[in-house]
Amino acid sequence: MKALDGIKILDFTHVQSGPTCTQLLAWFGADVIKVERPGVGDATRKQLVDVPGADSLYFTMLNHNKRSIELNSKNETGKEILTRLIEECDVMVENFAPGALDRMGFTWERIQEINPKMILASIKGFGPGKYEDCKVYENVAQCAGGAASTTGFLDGPPLVTGAQIGDSGTGLHLALGIVTALFHREKSGRGQKVSAAMQDGVLNLTRVKLRDQQRLAAGPLKEYSQYGEGIPFGAATPRAGNDSGGGQPGRILKCKGWETDPNAYTYFITQAAVWGNVCDLIGKPEWKDAPGYATPPERLDKLNEIFAAVEDWTKTKDKFEVMAICNPLNIPVGPILSTKELMEDEGLRATGTIVDVDHPERGRYVSVGCPVKLSNSPVAVERSPLLGEHTLEILSQVLGYGDADLDRVIASGAVGTPPKAAAE
Ligand code: COA
Repeated sequence: MKALDGIKILDFTHVQSGPTCTQLLAWFGADVIKVERPGVGDATRKQLVDVPGADSLYFTMLNHNKRSIELNSKNETGKEILTRLIEECDVMVENFAPGALDRMGFTWERIQEINPKMILASIKGFGPGKYEDCKVYENVAQCAGGAASTTGFLDGPPLVTGAQIGDSGTGLHLALGIVTALFHREKSGRGQKVSAAMQDGVLNLTRVKLRDQQRLAAGPLKEYSQYGEGIPFGAATPRAGNDSGGGQPGRILKCKGWETDPNAYTYFITQAAVWGNVCDLIGKPEWKDAPGYATPPERLDKLNEIFAAVEDWTKTKDKFEVMAICNPLNIPVGPILSTKELMEDEGLRATGTIVDVDHPERGRYVSVGCPVKLSNSPVAVERSPLLGEHTLEILSQVLGYGDADLDRVIASGAVGTPPKAAAE
């Protein structure tokens, strides 16, 4: 039995943010019923297609372990089926543009009337206020949530990151809200509305930069490289390149092979506790006790000089050698791993974080498995559903529709052309 066994999720999500959330819930054991527009489905099915005719990796990698029902929620019979699904399910998750659910006729008030125990979980780009009506995608959220203004180098433009903190990050936030609401429902007997705005999610992950914003009032941010470079601070938290975000200075440094390999780099942290080990390693034992170098505050205006010396050493080793040498010395380092290296990583495969998945249309592909491991709730990653693959199964098993109901529903056009009808 898995942690969320018995919980039914009515999954009205699409693209990335919502599907990330419901995929996690599916991995924790919930029965996730993905509702898709007949004949069309989630737009990502046909975005960035690499195998003609097959669902894209964009879709397959975000929709594992779910069931798919084709359903036109604007058709009268479709609304009847949706109403029945709301009666049967525990949680409804959606990330439509603002107002879309209301326009379908399923306001929060109406949903509560249908099922007072229902938890309605929504992702929007912005929370209530001046931007609440805006449509939002990943990079908009990264920009509006403070991540972009604090990412990049001081002399360059704001940058977005490869990690999808706006979409997948908000999906994670929403999943936590949902399980919290489920826990609360055990005591209260009632559902509630769970809202996660992408701007808020990104801002939450950018929390330390608001810490620095306020620290500016007390003087320059001495752990930022620009302090040692004599560049004055402005009114807002600046971009800090690869400076560490915490109190232990760090940098990305070149390793052997950097001239031809774009990922021959390591992150290197000059943690105060192991300063002596760092000095011995890079051939600067005199820095251990030298005035201006011996204590962390003294070193803050010399980070460029110190990291140049460390880099002279890292350039003589490849990134894995750096790791092998530094780890026993307790010096925190991290190789810059490429996506190719990660896909081939034996350790990640052994834990199920990287998995191979078989798919009837596209063959075998690599995916990222569940990143959270529950000891009593192991996850077997199953392929994403084909469009409408479970339409009849859900209508009959979950809603109890008999043959006459199925014929009526199919004739109404509310559920596309499920296999039974296609065969006739
Ligand atoms: N049956 C009938 N109609 C359906 C349907 C179904 N099964 N599923 C969706 N639709 C309709 C919606 O009701 C909506 O119709 P309306 O505009 O008449 O109300 C329409 O399809 C389009 O939905 P929408 O959400 O507006 O999609 P979009 O492609 O125009 O916008 C986003 C996409 C992602 C920008 C938008 O959904 C959004 O801002 N979502 C919230 C933030 C978010 O999650 N962004 C990140 C996505 S990774």
